[in-house]
Amino acid sequence: MNDKRIESIQAEVKRTLQNAECGHDYSHAIRVKNNAELIAKSEGGNLPIIQAAALLHDVSDEKFSNGNTVIGLKLTENILKKAKFKSTEIAQIIDIIQNISYKGGFFANRIPSIECAIVQDADRLDAIGAIGIARAFHYGGFKNRELYNPEIPPQEFENADEYRNSNGPTLNHFYEKLLKLKYLMNTPTAKELAETRHAFLEEFLQEFLAEWNSGDEE
Ligand code: ADP
Ligand code: NI
Repeated sequence: MNDKRIESIQAEVKRTLQNAECGHDYSHAIRVKNNAELIAKSEGGNLPIIQAAALLHDVSDEKFSNGNTVIGLKLTENILKKAKFKSTEIAQIIDIIQNISYKGGFFANRIPSIECAIVQDADRLDAIGAIGIARAFHYGGFKNRELYNPEIPPQEFENADEYRNSNGPTLNHFYEKLLKLKYLMNTPTAKELAETRHAFLEEFLQEFLAEWNSGDEE
């Protein structure tokens, strides 16, 4: 059962993410919350903090405010105040949100709390498996990327900007990020949940490349 504060946040997030592109829409926030609850069942942590951070983690994303991180964080803070979270809890939730983003894996070193570890794992689970595949190709379509181009190999990025600005084909993203996520899970529970989703990515890639190359030998 959700506490009243989480219900309030959920309603605000639904309103705020109404017109968000579908990789980061309300349904992503709900899936991340559900994943986080599942992980927290065996890993512990402060549940309302985890739920709030999961629901709000993309509201403050700079992608939605043309690179401006301040607007999004103010909005997040206002939603938490309205839901009657205490200022110490708000600080904790905002700290989680600021630390979970992937951005090429360059900020992956600092995991300050079990709550942060869980929300990060929950977000990463939604980037792999069948949903992860759908989100990747949706993102690629949104950016008008090629599905695949054997002449453009996956890249090793030097920094977060390089990662963000890459124009490579969507299939490269599987090698550049998605296949790495299983190994980057913080909690044993998420590692286990990642197994099936990871195996599905590999199966998908195998089938995709077999279809792409079929008839090549003739
Ligand atoms: P995060 O919220 O962890 O920073 P992003 O905002 O980078 O993640 O990505 C959101 C979704 O879009 C994820 O499912 C991710 O895999 C996908 N995505 C991000 N970059 C690319 C890309 N270059 N090609 C295909 N999908 C991408
Ligand atoms: Ni997310």
